[in-house]
Amino acid sequence: MCYTPQKMIFLMFFLFHYTSADLTYDVCKQTRDYNLCIETLKTDVYSSGADAKGLARIMIQVARKKAVHNLVYVRKLMIQNPQNPDFKQCLQVCYDDYHLIVTAFIPNALKSLSLNSSFDAAISGLQSADQVSNCQETNCVKLSSNLNDKCNKYADFTQLVVDVIRTV
Ligand SMILES: *[C@@H]1O[C@H](CO)[C@@H](O)[C@H](O)[C@H]1NC(C)=O
Repeated sequence: MCYTPQKMIFLMFFLFHYTSADLTYDVCKQTRDYNLCIETLKTDVYSSGADAKGLARIMIQVARKKAVHNLVYVRKLMIQNPQNPDFKQCLQVCYDDYHLIVTAFIPNALKSLSLNSSFDAAISGLQSADQVSNCQETNCVKLSSNLNDKCNKYADFTQLVVDVIRTV
């Protein structure tokens, strides 16, 4: 292959651009929700200068925050509605789901990522989205549309996290 000066300039520009520019935009372009991806990563001070793996780690940590938030919300509903046995029962399902996400799926995703096993990290992410649908199958979502919204948002966000993991 012959490198003409034009090709060299292009190549150098490409390498310079690729290694020095903020990766966030490139990564987020490959996800289902560019704006939410950028918004999430830009609020984290560590995102500029992070590699793709670092960006994926930040996304997983934000997912953990959201899962903890939902866990606390479910707990609050449990305390506020001690009399309704149906609600109580399904809230327990949701509580267990988010508990499993926070204590198992998210730590597994972070561990896989640190072991350079992004495929396994993506699987853990998808499992955590799937686990939420378990909560949504119960009557809880009829009894609390807020909880339903929070579950949908969590599941959607997790899909976005998995998109970022797949760029690693
Ligand atoms: C993961 O990959 C990075 C960069 O290629 C390497 O430095 C690190 O040692 C790897 N970690 C493991 C646990 O294989």
